[in-house]
Amino acid sequence: MKASITKGLGQGFVVEDVDLAEPVGHEVRIEVKASGLCHSDLSVATFIGEEFPVVLGHEVAGVVVAVGPRVTQARVGDHVVGCLIQYCGTCANCLGGRTHICLRPEATLRGADQPSRISWNGAPVAQGMGLGGFAQEALIHESQLAVIPEDMPWAPAALIGCGVLTGAGAVLNSAQVAHGETVVVIGAGGVGMNAVSGARIAGAEKIVVTDIEDSKLERAKAFGATHVVNSRTTDPVEAVREITGHGADHVFDFVGARAVTAQGMGMLARGGGLYLIGVSSNDAGVEVNSIAALSSSHKVQGVYMGSSNLKRDIPYYASLYLQGRMNLDDLVSKEIGLADIAAGYEALKDGNTARVVITDFS
Ligand SMILES: NC(=O)c1ccc[n+]([C@@H]2O[C@H](COP(=O)([O-])OP(=O)(O)OC[C@H]3O[C@@H](n4cnc5c(N)ncnc54)[C@H](O)[C@@H]3O)[C@@H](O)[C@H]2O)c1
Ligand SMILES: [Zn+2]
Ligand SMILES: [Zn+2]
Repeated sequence: MKASITKGLGQGFVVEDVDLAEPVGHEVRIEVKASGLCHSDLSVATFIGEEFPVVLGHEVAGVVVAVGPRVTQARVGDHVVGCLIQYCGTCANCLGGRTHICLRPEATLRGADQPSRISWNGAPVAQGMGLGGFAQEALIHESQLAVIPEDMPWAPAALIGCGVLTGAGAVLNSAQVAHGETVVVIGAGGVGMNAVSGARIAGAEKIVVTDIEDSKLERAKAFGATHVVNSRTTDPVEAVREITGHGADHVFDFVGARAVTAQGMGMLARGGGLYLIGVSSNDAGVEVNSIAALSSSHKVQGVYMGSSNLKRDIPYYASLYLQGRMNLDDLVSKEIGLADIAAGYEALKDGNTARVVITDFS
């Protein structure tokens, strides 16, 4: 089968003929129907990655074509969405319902004594995040897959697995925003837009979005922003204080640059929470003054994958989409072929492109 391989740091994405193993144990083989381009895969391909060659791609949706003998959660023909959260199902965190912070995520992968799931010219190929969605087919542990309704279209379905879980989950799971509260979303990109959707679903009274590009702010309105602030031309802290009256109950930072995160801290109301989701450099972070924080009961929380339970949340968001209650269509700006990944990432630099999705694997 064809897969787009990254052979080393900075070596891009090249389509090659590779071999995919037959499913064993809890593994499921899927025919990939849609695969989203997320920034994290580009970071792995350009400066973070350690294992090469690798098949990346972690926003993946497809149809089940074969299952291993121990699979109980998917059947041939099921439509599924993959997610990079790997969980064992038996550790204390998993048993407590917090599968996104499983203590033994590697339990879902093949051991060193087993043949690689993917190989190329007889040599092993790494599989990005247990998924490897930049390919015609993928072999994935059943715990990383959720079954979705068959009438869910493929391109928006693929996006649920990372950007939607992260953005909407930060609001609904991590912060548990209550109706009537005020929310600020910093960074109106492909992930932040789903936080706006989440805030609307939670019944937030005011949803303020800040960005440095007007085109992104215009798009934010289509997702449910009640107020937008261009932080290049307007002081966002002052603007948020004016809009909310007393500061925001929840501030979600999808940018992750020190100056921006400090602004987020400055936007909080008494009792407010700041949620760290985006990272734009290794020194991203925020300084917390203990006296100010304790007298105002402020909270700062790091958020991994929207604290999501993928088996519950992926079908939930698909269902909201099908009911017309969650805007995913405006996230899919462009559909491309498997050979066009580099051009797809290039297109993402354009302010009007939210997400690019591979839907042609021929
Ligand atoms: N924590 C997690 O589990 C998790 C999961 C997925 C993605 N992420 C991270 O979430 C972040 C957002 O991802 P994305 O795909 O939406 O990225 P994106 O590039 O599409 O969006 C970022 C947005 O921030 C805006 N921006 C840049 N500088 C700004 C500033 N100074 N003030 C306000 N806005 C500014 C940009 O114009 C853009 O609209 C990334 O850092 C990504 O790595 C985190
Ligand atoms: Zn991602
Ligand atoms: Zn676990």
